Amino acid sequence: MIEKITKILTEANFAPSGDNCQPWKFKITPNGLLLFNLPEKDKSVYNFNQKAAYISHGAFIENIKIAALAHGLKTTINLFPDIKNPDLVAELDFSPSNGEIDNLYEFIEKRHTNRKPYLAKPISENQLSELLNLKVDSFDGKIVMVTAREHIKTLAQLLSINEKIVLQNKKLHQFLFGNISWGQEGLQKNDKMFIKTLEMNPLQQFVFKLCSSWKIMNFFDKFGLAKFISKENSKIYSNSGAIGAIITSKNSKTDFVQGGRLLQRTWLLATSMGLSLQPLAGMALLNQILVAGQRQALSPEHAMEIEDSIKHISTLINSGDENIIFMFRVGESSAPSAVTPRLPVEEILSK
Ligand SMILES: Cc1cc2nc3c(=O)[nH]c(=O)nc-3n(C[C@H](O)[C@H](O)[C@H](O)COP(=O)(O)O)c2cc1C
Repeated sequence: MIEKITKILTEANFAPSGDNCQPWKFKITPNGLLLFNLPEKDKSVYNFNQKAAYISHGAFIENIKIAALAHGLKTTINLFPDIKNPDLVAELDFSPSNGEIDNLYEFIEKRHTNRKPYLAKPISENQLSELLNLKVDSFDGKIVMVTAREHIKTLAQLLSINEKIVLQNKKLHQFLFGNISWGQEGLQKNDKMFIKTLEMNPLQQFVFKLCSSWKIMNFFDKFGLAKFISKENSKIYSNSGAIGAIITSKNSKTDFVQGGRLLQRTWLLATSMGLSLQPLAGMALLNQILVAGQRQALSPEHAMEIEDSIKHISTLINSGDENIIFMFRVGESSAPSAVTPRLPVEEILSK
């Protein structure tokens, strides 16, 4: 059983996480696995109350569930089973399956974040309805998708305000640049984002590297650099097949884990359709700070920008009062220039 579980974990280990920080540790039990959060791995402002980490855990759990079926095992998921241990995110128990398989299995390894420009071509009605029909058991959240060109354009502008904020907020700036691996392919750090995956041309990469110094970034921003970068990204995001969101009426940590499971199914299904996906999660995650009434954690200007943008986004995606927990773009594109590595499975298993 231990060998089988290790194999499942190795296959599921391609799960996405914010800035590839992989905030997880697993322990093998007689019947399955325990999944622990590692808060020290993601100290980003985006990870307010561990919500970004919980989304990543959800994605990992979904990968495990899919991979386990391929090995003849069904997974029972018990979220936050121990109130005395908030870092114990899930207890996963395996039992023999009745031969069921999940067609998304072969796409676990093929799923990547693609930050390249996409074609400004709508995704097909069939693809749209399949994506919109995705569900995760006992989760009231759902996916919404925007395909109207004008709305995509406005959403792209609103979502790219995140890139201005990340370059103007010292803590966000520090976390972003602290999580970039500048090395050659093959020499990358396993729990960082390889620079090539950010899809910059040599000039952009040169400027970006200069901006890793907070002092230099601050100086350039007097001439509007953060706003300029945000505008450039907005142009890229405008050219997408659709912009989507995961919304839910509730706001508990369980909802974020379940939202992560739905995200992963969406991403894997999009991959199976030959579509690329890039999370555009910054504004939704920063908004969680405001939802929790912790405005003072942001500058007044940024708090206002986030608040106004989220109001506008909610109208465009028609989400009413629902909580937006994640946003992304999908569309047709060529393959990403590089893929992001993972920590080897021995390093995510506790002894
Ligand atoms: C909670 C969460 C938030 C993320 N936010 C963003 C984002 O705003 N922009 C982006 O380009 N990628 C974002 N990502 C993608 C991660 O950077 C990516 O999953 C990670 O670097 C691993 O790369 P991979 O997805 O190609 O395997 C996010 C991923 C997660 C799980």
